[in-house]
Amino acid sequence: MTLQNNPSVDNLRIVELPIPEPRRQEILIRVRATALNYRDIEIINGTYHTAFNLPLVPLSDGVGEVVAMGEDVTRFKIGDRVCSTFWQRWIGGSFRMAEPTYQRGGPIDGLLAEYAVLDEQAAVLAPRNLTDVEAAALPCAAVTAWHALVTEGKIKAGETVLVQGTGGVSLFALQFALASGAKVIVTSSSDEKLERAKALGAFAGINYRQDPEWAEAVLELTEGRGVDHVIEVGGPQSFAQSLKACTRRGQINVIGYLGGKEGTINPLDIFARQVDVRGIPVGSRESFETMNRAIEAHDLKPVIDRIFPWDDAAEAIRYLERGSHFGKIALLHSEASR
Ligand SMILES: NC(=O)c1ccc[n+]([C@@H]2O[C@H](COP(=O)([O-])OP(=O)(O)OC[C@H]3O[C@@H](n4cnc5c(N)ncnc54)[C@H](OP(=O)(O)O)[C@@H]3O)[C@@H](O)[C@H]2O)c1
Repeated sequence: MTLQNNPSVDNLRIVELPIPEPRRQEILIRVRATALNYRDIEIINGTYHTAFNLPLVPLSDGVGEVVAMGEDVTRFKIGDRVCSTFWQRWIGGSFRMAEPTYQRGGPIDGLLAEYAVLDEQAAVLAPRNLTDVEAAALPCAAVTAWHALVTEGKIKAGETVLVQGTGGVSLFALQFALASGAKVIVTSSSDEKLERAKALGAFAGINYRQDPEWAEAVLELTEGRGVDHVIEVGGPQSFAQSLKACTRRGQINVIGYLGGKEGTINPLDIFARQVDVRGIPVGSRESFETMNRAIEAHDLKPVIDRIFPWDDAAEAIRYLERGSHFGKIALLHSEASR
C-alpha cells in the first residue's frame, strides 16, 4: 500500500508491484503483521517534521517470514521470523551511527506491503514467545522504551518510573520497568485506563486531565522523594511537571510532544535537582536484540489494543488518531498469528 502524491489518509492506495528481488546481503520477507506508531500518522497526514518523497510505503514496524535471500546472507535462513529495525544503519554504539536518511517507513519504504526487502543488518529475529501481531509491535515503541530505561537509563530495582499516558511507548516502559524490579506511576486522561494500567502492575495512577499540576501528587506518592525516571511524551506542560516530580539526579527521557511544542519551563527546576534530560531517538539494533532476550526471559507480552486487517490501514489510522486506544494497534496480514 502506498501513500500517493499528497499526504492524507485518503491517499493510501493498494498498488500491484512486482515482488522485489533481494540483492547481496538482503532478505525478502513475506510480511505477516505490522503495527502503527504516532510517527506513521504524522507522515501520512503530512505533519511530520520532515517531508518525504512520495509515493511511499508507510509503517516502520512489522514482522515477516524470510522467503528468499540474496548472496552472502549470514544472519538468517529461510523460514526465520524477523522484525524490521527502525534505523537501518544504527547497529550499536552511539547515535552518531544512525543516518537520518535510513529510517524505515520514511524515507525508506516501510512494511505496509505483502513483501519487503530488508538489509540483513536491519532486521532481528522475532522473540519466540510472541505471536506475529505481538512481535510486529516492537521495532519503534518497545525499542524506544528499552533504550530510554535500560540502555541509557541503567534502571535499577527499587527505583520509581513515571510513564505518561497509556500508548505504545508508555506501556512497554511500564512492562520493562516492572521486569527490572522498579515501581511505576502512570498518568492518563482516563480513570478507566488507569485501572487497566494498575492491573498490569502500576502501583499508582494520576488523571492528568483532572489534575494538570500532577507533580504534587507524584511527590506525595513517593513520600517526597520524587521519581528516578520519566517517560516524557506530553510536551512543555507535562515537562514542567516532570521536572518538579523528579528526585535528585532523576532522568527525563524526552520522547514525544503530544500536547504541543509551545510552553515554558523554569531552568532552576533542572538545576535544583540536577536532573538529567535527554532526547530519545528510538534505539539501535543492539538495544533491540538485548530487549528481545529480556522479552523471552520474562515472557513479556506486548499490550495489543486492537487488530485490523492490513488493507483496512486507513481505518486503523483514524482509530489511533481518536486516542481511545490502550497499547498498540496492529494490522494483520494473511497467515499471521494473533
Ligand atoms: N523519540 C522517539 O524515538 C519516539 C519513538 C516512539 C514514539 N515517539 C513519540 O512518543 C509519543 C507517544 O508515542 P506512542 O506511539 O506511545 O503514541 P500512542 O500509542 O498514540 O499513545 C499516546 C498516548 O499518550 C497520551 N497522551 C496524549 N496526549 C497527551 C498529553 N498531552 N500529555 C500526556 N499524555 C498524553 C494518551 O494516553 P491516555 O489516553 O492514557 O491519556 C495517548 O493514548 C508520540 O509523540 C510519538 O511521536 C517518539
